Amino acid sequence: MDRNLALEFVRITEAAALASAKWMGRGDEKAADQAAVDAMRRAFDSVHIDGTVVIGEGERDEAPMLYIGEKVGSKKEDSPSIDIALDPLEGTTICAKGGVGAIAVIACAEKGGFLHAPDTYMDKIAAGPAARGLIDLDLTPAENVHRVAEANKKSVGDITVVILERDRHSDLIAQVRKTGARIQLIGDGDVSAAVAAGWENSGIDLLMGIGGAPEGVISAAAMRCLGGDFQGRLKFRNEGEKERAQRMGVKDLNRKYGLTDLASGNVVFCATGVTDGPLLKGVKLLPGGLGKTHSVVMRSQTGTIRNIEAQHNFLVKAIR
Ligand code: FBP
Repeated sequence: MDRNLALEFVRITEAAALASAKWMGRGDEKAADQAAVDAMRRAFDSVHIDGTVVIGEGERDEAPMLYIGEKVGSKKEDSPSIDIALDPLEGTTICAKGGVGAIAVIACAEKGGFLHAPDTYMDKIAAGPAARGLIDLDLTPAENVHRVAEANKKSVGDITVVILERDRHSDLIAQVRKTGARIQLIGDGDVSAAVAAGWENSGIDLLMGIGGAPEGVISAAAMRCLGGDFQGRLKFRNEGEKERAQRMGVKDLNRKYGLTDLASGNVVFCATGVTDGPLLKGVKLLPGGLGKTHSVVMRSQTGTIRNIEAQHNFLVKAIR
């Protein structure tokens, strides 16, 4: 995939982050999300790609923009065909409450590179490069914690596991606590958390638990770039979700997906902070009509990780 495209994608996540950050703390999740979707959709128009959204805002009948199957980008004759997994505002509640770790995110792969994940849940496990090949959804939480501790040359008590704070995780939390590992419970935003688990010195060693399946694919793309590991297994809430998954091509509903089952080939991951988080600073609105964004762009092909801080002048280019 053309490396220049990676930088084009930053403009898109920046646009979504700037637009949604205007709604930070206003208690209106829908407006924050809509602002991000509109801005991201518009920003795609200036990128010369033949893009197809494969992970997006939902199916066509439920999402007017950035729906699964929507074509994005302004296609030219030599434009590359690219599959896109996106979340214009990952952590809508976080943004609405002014909490920690909302991001705007896009991941791209060559055609066919992403699992077409249905909008259901996924049981996930993610860890950084040291524990690559060692974590496994089929092991107990305690076994995974011990493996990650050993791989990172840490005592179990120094391991931090991040888990979404949900009732469904009470048993998982109890099992992890029993090992002596420390737990960071988060209200939302398991993409940021998964990326943190793969990021050196983030203070997070492991992500475990059930979150959104589309977010799982995006997290796997990040892990491909970071050299970490990720596994996922779809978790269905009802028969309708199972049927939908089958319609989307999922044959084995109990399959354990490895990293490259979720995101294969050359992958790009790009995210901009909306609110301050473990890796990315949130949007700052400054005097004089200025604003600052902090983004990360990573490519699996080279392993390059770029941190990009940008200053925006809204008097010249308004947030739309
Ligand atoms: P949204 O940005 O769509 O609100 O998702 C936030 C999120 O916390 C994800 O990071 C996570 O995967 C999922 O929701 C968990 O779902 P639920 O809130 O239903 O437990």
